[in-house]
Amino acid sequence: MTIVNFPVPLPRGTARQRAAARANANAGLYEMFLAPRKRALFGELHGNVLEIGAGAGPNLAYFPFDVRWRGIEPNPAAVRYLQQAISMLGRPPENYIIDAGDPEGRRLTAPDASQDAVVCTLALCSVADPDAMLREIVRVLKPGGKFAFIEHVAATRGSGLRAFQELIKPLSILFEDGCHPNRETWKTIYDAGFVRVEIEHFELHEGILTVPFISGWAQKGSPTLQRSHRTTVIAGSMRQNWRSR
Ligand SMILES: C[S@@+](CC[C@H](N)C(=O)[O-])C[C@H]1O[C@@H](n2cnc3c(N)ncnc32)[C@H](O)[C@@H]1O
Repeated sequence: MTIVNFPVPLPRGTARQRAAARANANAGLYEMFLAPRKRALFGELHGNVLEIGAGAGPNLAYFPFDVRWRGIEPNPAAVRYLQQAISMLGRPPENYIIDAGDPEGRRLTAPDASQDAVVCTLALCSVADPDAMLREIVRVLKPGGKFAFIEHVAATRGSGLRAFQELIKPLSILFEDGCHPNRETWKTIYDAGFVRVEIEHFELHEGILTVPFISGWAQKGSPTLQRSHRTTVIAGSMRQNWRSR
């Protein structure tokens, strides 16, 4: 395992960074719910896999043995958990690189058309500029490469849940890794210029709270895969009104 773009020795991180990393490392319930989707989405990826916002490493075990993984994670406190998760995998450490990424968080450090797949879970809510991040994802993917994602997203416009998301946004930005609970991330992905996009909307129920999610994949065009082949599957409980939200 190699760590790049971090000062040596690795900083502890601020109190807020440490709290966010701890919460991320202890998200067992979420992980239990999301496990079948992760198995289906990540289990067939091969080659160079770039993960954005790798957190404490909850996705590592789902990737096939042969991937060459690079995880972008700017929070040094999360990197400590990530290091541990990688060492527990028992895989060739040279295939795992932890990268702090670009300090502005707007550019990916990977070269153009270098990645077979890009993966992102619960991180597009946190990045500073999701449109710029999606442009970067398309840039670094090889032609025909896949972007696989699971993200929590905005509730239907005008709903009580959406009003709640707007209300708690300042707090969740401050205390939960810059998390914006009201992002319409499905639109950002849909508009990013992929030739194929498959998005499923679903919900998780946390006590009295409902958390809307999306999961799916999007594919970059190639000479044999043109935009005219674009297919979009929107499934799940919100499929009827997803365009209008
Ligand atoms: C809610 S956590 C999710 C972590 C992990 N992917 C998971 O599923 O549990 C969001 C992560 O995105 C990271 N992050 C925020 N901005 C980022 C950026 N511009 N590039 C890469 N990661 C970023 C945060 O440091 C944090 O670890």
